[in-house]
Amino acid sequence: MAPRNIIIDTDPGQDDAVAILLALASPEYVNVLGVVAVAGNVPLDLTQKNARIVCELAGRSDMPVFAGADAPMARRLVTAEHVHGKTGLDGPPLPEPAMALQEQSGVDFIIETLRTEPPGTVTLCPIGPLTNIGIAFAKAPDVVERVQEIVLMGGAYFEVGNITPAAEFNIYVDPEAADIVFRSGVKLTVMPLDVTHKALTSQAWVDDMAALGTETGRMVSAWTDFFERYDMEKYGSTGAPLHDPCVIAYLIKPELFTGRHVNVEVETQSELTRGMTVADWWGVTDRPPNAMFVGGVDRDGFFGLLSERLARL
Ligand code: RIB
Ligand code: CA
Repeated sequence: MAPRNIIIDTDPGQDDAVAILLALASPEYVNVLGVVAVAGNVPLDLTQKNARIVCELAGRSDMPVFAGADAPMARRLVTAEHVHGKTGLDGPPLPEPAMALQEQSGVDFIIETLRTEPPGTVTLCPIGPLTNIGIAFAKAPDVVERVQEIVLMGGAYFEVGNITPAAEFNIYVDPEAADIVFRSGVKLTVMPLDVTHKALTSQAWVDDMAALGTETGRMVSAWTDFFERYDMEKYGSTGAPLHDPCVIAYLIKPELFTGRHVNVEVETQSELTRGMTVADWWGVTDRPPNAMFVGGVDRDGFFGLLSERLARL
């Protein structure tokens, strides 16, 4: 089967970095057409720099990296340095990227790619706030029906929120953009905290990464070592939740995941529940299902895939 054409929309972020590495290590499954940075975990000037650092780490300084939106569609930017550190990629010392940022705006790259690639052949993989996708759909409504699928990391239902009691960070930062995406009618697969909180690293796995003896292994072990401390303090869990790599792993091995096709809507009005993803898991409304809402993962299979793939870089 031919590899799937994807655009990764990202706010690196240690877990974003692992997701990008997994994608670039899997060219027989995913063909990354471009990486578009968005403001999220840290401001845009850092997320675009971090995206270039990660592509270079994977030996892909040829990968087109774009800067997208520097603020949500209708709100002030909320960032997450308390989770990811000041650089967004805290943990190891970071190199200065040598590769250039593309001139074209990330939003225009998304629009142009969807207009020039055959309809139904490009999957969007947002793993940060949905601002770039929301703006692209608002600016160029003609591209919506040309999207093959959106596989995103965001939202929460049974797992409740991680930035407020009700909302997961990516959706909370830009609920208006998320609302556009969830109402768009595009085929939607959602990796919420319900599943990503089951994709927890173990010390053995982090040690295995360091034992690879590669720069990738060293960076990934240092990133996941740093990234886990927030969740350990907050949830008392051991291990870092690899939220964003779930999106790429799903494209490579969907059988690792289980979910339910349900209606999901995004709260944009209430300040108390802003950004909550309201999943009609039990079908108690007549709202039409619009998303595959994933809740289960074969954890060993997931980390086995990650180890096998990251060892290739
Ligand atoms: O809530 C988890 C999400 O927020 C992940 O994408 C992480 O990188 C942060 O962006
Ligand atoms: Ca992210």
